[in-house]
Amino acid sequence: MRVEESRREVEVTSGHDATTPRAPHRATCETQVEASLRRGTSASLGGHPDHAAPPTAHPHEAPARHTIAASSPRLVTVRRGSCYAPRAMAFGRGKVILLGEHGVVYGHPALAAGLGVGVHATARVSESQDDVIVARPWGVTARVGSDEPLALGLQAILEGMPSDRQSVHVEVDVDLPGGAGLGCSAAIGVAVTGALDALFSIERTDEERGDYSLRWERVFHGNPSGVDNAMAAVGGVALFRRGQPLQTVRAKKPLPLVIAHSGESSSTKEIVAMVARQREAETQRVDEAFEAIAALVNNAKLAVEAGDLKALGQLFDLNQMLLAGLMLSTEKIEELCRVAREEGALGAKLTGAGAGGCMIALAKDEADAERIREALAKRSPLTLVAMAGA
Ligand code: PMV
Repeated sequence: MRVEESRREVEVTSGHDATTPRAPHRATCETQVEASLRRGTSASLGGHPDHAAPPTAHPHEAPARHTIAASSPRLVTVRRGSCYAPRAMAFGRGKVILLGEHGVVYGHPALAAGLGVGVHATARVSESQDDVIVARPWGVTARVGSDEPLALGLQAILEGMPSDRQSVHVEVDVDLPGGAGLGCSAAIGVAVTGALDALFSIERTDEERGDYSLRWERVFHGNPSGVDNAMAAVGGVALFRRGQPLQTVRAKKPLPLVIAHSGESSSTKEIVAMVARQREAETQRVDEAFEAIAALVNNAKLAVEAGDLKALGQLFDLNQMLLAGLMLSTEKIEELCRVAREEGALGAKLTGAGAGGCMIALAKDEADAERIREALAKRSPLTLVAMAGA
């Protein structure tokens, strides 16, 4: 295997224990959603998880097909001059919540799908005494000990790692917009955890890695349910319930999803807190909405298993109405949902925290999804097609 480093190619040995990639069977899980994933813009998807900026539109650029290689955490040995230095790499994927956001914070189920796009992290032993994290898209370098959120996140991850470890230098490449409902910060947390696990030869299953990386997520979100982290680590289509093992859902047919960014960014932490305030003031109303959403989620799981896309689309629409009732929709999201439905989408809704960020629409098939994406691209700075469960 060869990798490019500092504009020159170097020989590396690949895999856990320096020879064989760990858990190679994960390859299929990790590519389930990205069989067809197109970008409607050439702009970087990167955005700081804390202060997210929507991507800029480049409407004249042809959409690109994206394929993300399987990437279980792995250790490689990189030749630098006359020395060989171990370098560990891992990937954390983005996700969409198909149904069940917000209720999932209060113990209700959510149905989610992992994306093929996400975050790549690379870790190596640091040349200095400091633990450092570099977030390439934002040009941020943060040292543990500072109050920069990325440094606090890295510190939280390192706190559970061997106390006699060496200092680390971690770099992250982020290919997701932050504040968009696509689980950007969780994908970083999972990628960083994975890279450090490989560097320090820590064995974890993907699900354990998702759980562990909640340490990172808590720095960015006050009360994360854990769905983003579980999906970032495991992928596929799954039913998540807080505190319970992730339940893989077998899709009878791939789910042709169109994702469109509203161009408005939102802070998950603030939106989750806003819903908590509503619940405090009107517990019965909010809990009834969550009960209704939970019923939709359970039906949606059955629809996915039966390959009943029409029913699933209707469930998207019902979920959207309930989310709008919790003041989580915006005019822009409603506009994108309306356009998607007019173009033949079977259903459409916001995804993630809402109050901005992305919406998802379910299409009949991949060709229809591409047509709907093109219509949405006239109104959205970022559009994708993802075949979930493919
Ligand atoms: O906006 P995102 O991608 O972080 O998704 C948040 C999902 C919520 O259900 C609103 C919060 C959570 O922790 O589950």
